[in-house]
Amino acid sequence: MPGSGPHKYTRLAMLLHWGMAALVCTLFAIGWYMVDLPKGPARGETFALHKSLGLSAFLLLVWRLAWRLRHPAPTLPVSVPTWQARLAHGVHWAFYGLLGLQPLTGYLSSSFSGYSTRFFGLPLPQWGHADPPLNQFFTELHVAGSLALLALLAVHLIGTLSHLLQPGENLLRRMLPW
Ligand code: HEM
Ligand code: HEM
Repeated sequence: MPGSGPHKYTRLAMLLHWGMAALVCTLFAIGWYMVDLPKGPARGETFALHKSLGLSAFLLLVWRLAWRLRHPAPTLPVSVPTWQARLAHGVHWAFYGLLGLQPLTGYLSSSFSGYSTRFFGLPLPQWGHADPPLNQFFTELHVAGSLALLALLAVHLIGTLSHLLQPGENLLRRMLPW
């Protein structure tokens, strides 16, 4: 129902949103950097960091989704056209879906790489085995997922920033504590 109800996200929603945004940007930076490193200890350590942070993103997503399913988003101003509200909601749920799939394809690609997967040093059950075609398949899905996330982020940013230009529609403020 547009126009009624709270007009801002709660502090916890903001913390989870900006924490996730920072983590996802870091994962992109490390992901792109590490794939060009030559084989050696630096490459191994950077991959391990990417995997640990990526698994943390999954835990953060579970927390965020559990919270979100019990707390509806604040209502949008009535002046926001219906198609834009639908697009925004579609992008938000697509984010949740992709942020669930991305750690999964990463974990599967890692499981079939022949290396053990660790969470900040803690070895995870090693049920996979070295299988180059499967490793390649999940790696391709992982790369495709990262490109899809980038596309969503572009729509998300254009949407948010374009509303800064509309009087009374500063949607960014809904996600900022001040
Ligand atoms: C939301 C979470 C994640 C994001 C946004 C993310 C993003 C990325 C990006 C941008 C790359 C570089 C892809 C390229 O070559 O262009 C990458 C590579 C990679 N990621 Fe992730 N990642 C995430 C989670 C994970 C997890 C949880 C694991 C494993 C446990 C993982 C394992 C890998 C591996 C092994 C590669 C290298 C693939 C290759 O050999 O080319 N990622 N990731
Ligand atoms: C990778 C980075 C990001 C991800 C994954 C992400 C994801 C999301 C998701 C899933 C929501 C919906 C929250 C809900 O109702 O469940 C949301 C809302 C929002 N995001 Fe982001 N976001 C990112 C970066 C950003 C950035 C950089 C900005 C600022 C320019 C931003 C501004 C907002 C705003 C203002 C809302 C609230 C929209 C509304 O008023 O309804 N986000 N974001």
